[in-house]
Amino acid sequence: MFFKKKQANATIDPNNIPAHIGIIMDGNGRWAAKRGLPRSAGHRAGAETLKRIVKYCNKIGVKSITAYAFSTENWNRPQKEVDALMELLYTYLQQVEEQFAGTNVILKVIGDRTPLSDKIKDAILYAEEYTKDNTGIVLNVALNYGGRAEIVEATKLAVANFKNGSVTEEDITEDYMSSLMYTKDVPEVDLIIRPSGELRLSNFLLWQAAYAEFWFDDINWPDFSEKDMERAILAYQKRNRRFGKV
Ligand code: FPP
Repeated sequence: MFFKKKQANATIDPNNIPAHIGIIMDGNGRWAAKRGLPRSAGHRAGAETLKRIVKYCNKIGVKSITAYAFSTENWNRPQKEVDALMELLYTYLQQVEEQFAGTNVILKVIGDRTPLSDKIKDAILYAEEYTKDNTGIVLNVALNYGGRAEIVEATKLAVANFKNGSVTEEDITEDYMSSLMYTKDVPEVDLIIRPSGELRLSNFLLWQAAYAEFWFDDINWPDFSEKDMERAILAYQKRNRRFGKV
């Protein structure tokens, strides 16, 4: 299932860069366990990896990355791990300037903010405000995000707009529904990457995955390097994307 063939001397085609890459940052816990470290150390290392990968993608012309940081199901993890993840996210957002120095990143948080603490909500507003006039890659941090919840929310918006008369039944098209998703301002998702050997979507970008290409890798996320991202993009560039046509 994994594609490990050597692509000797292959170079990335700058005219066929995936515009938007979704990443399921999986394998942090296993990375930490292998080293006898607490799971939180794996998440810290995973956050460092994300910074490296965002920098690399920004450099080669990727327009947007959506990174799965905390799902609607992750609240079921031990409280200690949830607290550590929230603290890590807080630091990341609050120190957005230092964390992404030189990357010109536009940071956005997608997902349901309602149950988040005021401290995290404020840090999100700060990071979004601080980076909003940048001109580089858009990093969507998916936080308390669920693909099904996103579709339900979009449906509720469509119903409300129908009820208040701002749209008719005929207006409710696929494009219209896309315009109600969290990803409305960034290009279509071209590529979804999941490292660590798991072969499932886990409620990530369900609507957006319709025509995305997939790349599964057995490396744990903290070990995912720029070279691994290059391999994923090279494989993507060899795909024949037919979008349902022949
Ligand atoms: C899945 O690996 C990973 C998560 C649930 C959290 C991902 C979060 C980060 C990488 C860090 C925070 C992000 C930002 C943007 C600062 P897992 O814990 O399920 O790993 P396992 O399957 O090996 O146990």
